Amino acid sequence: MKVLGIETSCDETSIAIVDNKKNIISHILKSQIDLHKIYGGVVPEIAARAHVEIIDQLILQALKEANLNFTDIDGFCATCGPGLIGSVIVGMICAKTLASVHRKPFIAINHLEGHALTIRLSNADFNFPYLLLLVSGGHCQILLVNGLGNYKKLGETIDDALGESFDKVAQMLNLSYPGGPEIENLAKIGNARRFKFSKPLIDNKNEKHNFDFSFSGLKTAVRREIEKLKKDSAINNQNDIEITMQDKADICASFQKTVSDILINRLENVINFNNQKLPIEVSQTGFTSPIQKLVIAGGVASNRYIFSNIEIWAKKHDIKVFTPPLKLCTDNAAMIAWVGVEKLTAGKIDNLNFKPRARWDLYQIPSLNKIITKYF
Ligand code: KG4
Ligand code: ZN
Repeated sequence: MKVLGIETSCDETSIAIVDNKKNIISHILKSQIDLHKIYGGVVPEIAARAHVEIIDQLILQALKEANLNFTDIDGFCATCGPGLIGSVIVGMICAKTLASVHRKPFIAINHLEGHALTIRLSNADFNFPYLLLLVSGGHCQILLVNGLGNYKKLGETIDDALGESFDKVAQMLNLSYPGGPEIENLAKIGNARRFKFSKPLIDNKNEKHNFDFSFSGLKTAVRREIEKLKKDSAINNQNDIEITMQDKADICASFQKTVSDILINRLENVINFNNQKLPIEVSQTGFTSPIQKLVIAGGVASNRYIFSNIEIWAKKHDIKVFTPPLKLCTDNAAMIAWVGVEKLTAGKIDNLNFKPRARWDLYQIPSLNKIITKYF
């Protein structure tokens, strides 16, 4: 079985053909980073137009590289949300058109499900269940992945996404977009203990059963520190608007360490909660005891500092940590085509009247938080 997948939810136009033996037969990815760089973030209108301009030729290129024709494809799928709606529509319409012209199934893919299941594409025999830390430009969530279509959201950010925070801090430091890799690089020469940034939600000791995140206060704390440094350097007459490279590196390292501490604190809450003797109503929500596998997915998963800190923490709990290869961590169509393969194999296909969704949550039990609050 071969599925052609399209990803256009943000600033990458990507096409992939993947089969049910986990072969990525072809994979094309065209990033729009250069178009958005000068704005310090993705401009939705520019993104949608750029997808339109290039998508047809990328689809043909993917087929050519795979040495296949449209008739060899068993299903067409595309990210149908969540994402920038204009961009999502471009990919979705292409997949629907191809499916209807070639009389093959159309599968609507949730972008987050792509990140959640990539590990089953990249790793042989990677079985359910597993805990998922999804950290990308638009999201920061902890989920239990119990099976295809069986996801339980345990916690999420109540304000900024994690990748977004990296990008904003980078912008404050005049680093280029996307900010994550820039911060990780500069942090290597920085002192992570120089600045003590507050950890919203976590500094409150009554938050033992909270699995949510908050990053906007951290961002504000970083901004204040930068302003203070700029003021100091103006007083010292060194350079009145810029801070030194070492200051920047120390900010990056301290910010990255704070983020890593926050992630670990929330994961620790989940594990402690899960290891208790759970009331039946809670275990029915899909908690598995004990959790043995943790997958980190999404663009921020490519951060080696964060990954290795989490790995050290996880060892203490006998949890193995996995992350897809770098190329499959950030947005790509192979992960979308793979969910297409999984869903098509399970007979889950969609109608051509499927509507694109700017917001599309990936969980089944909205009442979980209520249940947790009731018991603890
Ligand atoms: O998953 P992704 O490609 O797109 C979304 O679905 O949002 O994630 C992109 C995000 C950007 O915000 C980028 O700054 C961040 O992932 N990112 C990183 C790193 N590489 C990419 N953040 C921290 N450290 C990195 N090495
Ligand atoms: Zn993504």
